[in-house]
Amino acid sequence: MTRSDELLGRAKGGATVEFRQVSKHYARSANGQPIAAVRDLSLVVQPGEICVLVGPSGCGKTTSLKMVNRLIEPTSGQILIDGVDVMTVDPVALRRRIGYVIQQVGLFPHRTIAENIATVPELVGWPKAKIRARVDELIALVGLDPASYRDRYPSQLSGGERQRIGVARAMAIEPPLMLMDEPFGAVDPIVRERLQNEFLDLQRRLGLTVLFVTHDIDEAIKLGTRVAVFEQGGTIAQYSPPAELLMRPATDYVARFVGSDRALKRLAVMRLADLRLSPVSSAGEGPVFSAETNVRDALAALLLAPRAAGTVVDSSGVPIGVVTMETIASAVQPVAASLE
Ligand SMILES: Nc1ncnc2c1ncn2[C@@H]1O[C@H](COP(=O)(O)OP(=O)(O)O)[C@@H](O)[C@H]1O
Ligand SMILES: [Mg+2]
Repeated sequence: MTRSDELLGRAKGGATVEFRQVSKHYARSANGQPIAAVRDLSLVVQPGEICVLVGPSGCGKTTSLKMVNRLIEPTSGQILIDGVDVMTVDPVALRRRIGYVIQQVGLFPHRTIAENIATVPELVGWPKAKIRARVDELIALVGLDPASYRDRYPSQLSGGERQRIGVARAMAIEPPLMLMDEPFGAVDPIVRERLQNEFLDLQRRLGLTVLFVTHDIDEAIKLGTRVAVFEQGGTIAQYSPPAELLMRPATDYVARFVGSDRALKRLAVMRLADLRLSPVSSAGEGPVFSAETNVRDALAALLLAPRAAGTVVDSSGVPIGVVTMETIASAVQPVAASLE
């Protein structure tokens, strides 16, 4: 077994990623002074988590990501994948086994969709029949029809379709780790929303670990298990689950970055099951919600319901409580108070 097999050889499940005091300095040409793109970055991503790096342009997100697959090498510090320092692993082997998706996708224009997806499996010498089967499986996995897409060229696809194929290609050998740099940035909001949902679904099913870069706080809140908010100069202002970020921003900078509408945003990351529901009274009235419904969607439905109350049921349809506007208001009040 080679070092990289040891590192990333598992077929299923996600890797653990750890940044230990990682810095990256670039020599600035004008005055020769080194500038820090990333400064003393430390964070841990657990298996199966989506860690979102979010922040304004130029704050070091892409640099942080590219140090994981050694497209950029750190000036100091260490990055470990399942406890192994990436600097001890052959970079080519490392990159073949870490999925990488970027905004411009980077599909090879003169290769068909099937050939694009087959790139890494071919490089690592999979038998042809296995590659063919896997390609079709992946095209279907990202929601397209293999028969009508496998022989097309990238120019014959829409932006959203190309983005899906980019994700399929990155997943070809079931990497335990995916690096995604603004992967949905170039598509329109409706397509983006659909791609985000499909990606979340896929990620949960496969249990991949993902490092995801975006400058869009809404995308970060939606996708992140944990969100690292970067500040200019390559430091992290806060590294927390989305709900925590919205409820208790660590600094004024974070509060401004997540936005003054963070009470509303927080509703989208809470489920009805997280609320203190009123007891079920007589026969359930109003709309019926699954306990997994996000609170923002429930609020939207309640605003249109005649009595502004709804019944919450568990996965087997048994009522577990009643949700009202008051229930929801009391859940967000601490946030509203901290805004003052
Ligand atoms: N090759 C490079 N040489 C010099 N400076 C660079 C280089 N790549 C990035 N930088 C600088 O490092 C900082 C972080 O860049 P980057 O990681 O691309 O930011 P982000 O992805 O958050 O927009 C920026 O100030 C950028 O100008
Ligand atoms: Mg970037």
